[in-house]
Order: sequence, then C-alpha cells, then structure tokens
Amino acid sequence: MLLIRHAMVILITGASRGIGAALAGRLTGSGHTVLAVSRNRKGLQRIADECNQQTGKRLCHPIPFDLTDLTDLEEEFRSTVMNHAATVDALVNNAGHMIHKPFRQFTLREARNLFETNFFAPAQLIRIILPMMADSSLRHVVNITSMGGFQGSAKFSGLSYYSASKAALGNLTECLAEELGEEGIRVNALALGSVQTEMLAEAFPGYRAPLKPDQMAGFLQWFILEGAGYFNGKILPVSISTP
Ligand SMILES: NC(=O)c1ccc[n+]([C@@H]2O[C@H](COP(=O)([O-])OP(=O)(O)OC[C@H]3O[C@@H](n4cnc5c(N)ncnc54)[C@H](OP(=O)(O)O)[C@@H]3O)[C@@H](O)[C@H]2O)c1
Repeated sequence: MLLIRHAMVILITGASRGIGAALAGRLTGSGHTVLAVSRNRKGLQRIADECNQQTGKRLCHPIPFDLTDLTDLEEEFRSTVMNHAATVDALVNNAGHMIHKPFRQFTLREARNLFETNFFAPAQLIRIILPMMADSSLRHVVNITSMGGFQGSAKFSGLSYYSASKAALGNLTECLAEELGEEGIRVNALALGSVQTEMLAEAFPGYRAPLKPDQMAGFLQWFILEGAGYFNGKILPVSISTP
C-alpha cells in the first residue's frame, strides 16, 4: 500500500460545515495543511480555530470566497491561495448546493445556480489549481458527487437538477483523468450516499442518514491521500444506503 507520510497541502471547498468541515478536522489532525474555502466567513473561521486549537499549530487557513464568483475574481482567488501555499497537493471539490423541489417548479435561474456551484465552479477551480500541483508528489483531484448522479442508481424525486449537475461533474472527472493523465494528475469522483448534514436535513427533514460527517470524512481522508495510487478517472459509489 502506498503510504504518504509527509505533510500535504489540501484545498477543500465547502469547509465551513458538514462533510468539508469534518474533513478539515481529520486532515489537520493528521498534520496536513488545509486551505479551507467557503462563503461563510464566521463559520469558516470557527472551523479553522477549532482545527488549530486541537493541533496547536496553524494548519487550517480559512479562505472566505464565493466560488460562483470565480469567473470575475479568478486572479484574486489565485493570489490568495498562493499567499498560503505555493504547492497544492490535492484539491477536494466538496462545496455543493442542493435544491429539492419538483422539476416543473424549477426556474431556469435556480437550475443554473445549481450548475454554477456544482459543476462550473469545480471545473474552473481545477483549471486554477492545476499549475500549483506541478511540483507535488500527489496531484490528486477529488470531486464529490452524489449517488443521485451515479448512472443506474435509485433516484429521489425532486433532485433532478442537483443529480444532473453531479452527474456532469462525474463525467468531467472521467474526461479530465484522460486529458491530464500524462501530467501525472489523478482525477476521481466519489459519489456519496446520504450523510447526516445540514444540507440533508434541510432537503429531507426527518430523514436519518446512516453516516455522520466525521465517519465519511475518515474514508475521504484515506481516499484523498492514498486513492490516487489505485484509481484514476473513476466514479466510485460510497454508500451503505439506498441511494
Ligand atoms: N450530505 C449528504 O447526504 C450528501 C450526499 C451526497 C453528496 N453530498 C455532497 O457532499 C458535499 C458536502 O455536502 P454536505 O452535506 O456537507 O453539505 P453542507 O453541509 O450544506 O455543506 C456544503 C458546503 O458547501 C459550501 N458552499 C456552498 N455553496 C458555496 C459557494 N458558492 N462557494 C463556496 N462554498 C460554498 C457551504 O459553505 P458556505 O455556505 O459557507 O459557502 C458548505 O460549507 C456536497 O457537494 C454535497 O452535494 C452530500
């Protein structure tokens, strides 16, 4: 088994709560540096403070940013990231947006917003971060998709655009693994099953998921650091429930 022992720099989007926040805690707890991106400045600062207090080191760096602004603020974002680290070893496209409502009731604006956050922002972020991976020994891009966007899976009514945006990110994963493979970049997608987070509770009140964020984060940590040794261009279902 490939073992990466030295400290890595990992950029995680959507780290102010839920799975991303738990992942930031796990990774910094193991001595890795986390560049934590999301919009909620206070929430992000709280997570960074928790991580840094627990480790006694400044390993979690909050970067408050709305990823749907990347088109206009690409240079600003790039230089902010570079102020924290010259090399990024892994990028985790975890930030996501869910709207749960019948297909007929969706406005085009809502549908586009979903695709902005769940597809275009991760795609653009990969382009921005790629040059910063050149000197890394890991070079792993992990896209967080969903079982709803996994071909042939059981589907949930009301998640049409959300699932389609995740399926698009999965397909991009397969394409980029091919296109970037010669540069030693590994690109994979994890299609998650349900995890008890605020996103899930807001969309499906009363439903209890079988996993807590920290449990899922434990697997994600392993996959980010070790998975590139086993997988490339794969969309892997990570689920003990249906869907
Ligand atoms: N929970 C589940 O059951 C489940 C299942 C399958 C897949 N997933 C996927 O797993 C990922 C994490 O989900 P979660 O359940 O942990 O959700 P969550 O608790 O709602 O967290 C989502 C994160 O994304 C950030 N975010 C959203 N829009 C953003 C934007 N425009 N710019 C920057 N950050 C943004 C949010 O932070 P701010 O509000 O601070 O920006 C938040 O930190 C998502 O991609 C989700 O689709 C979750």
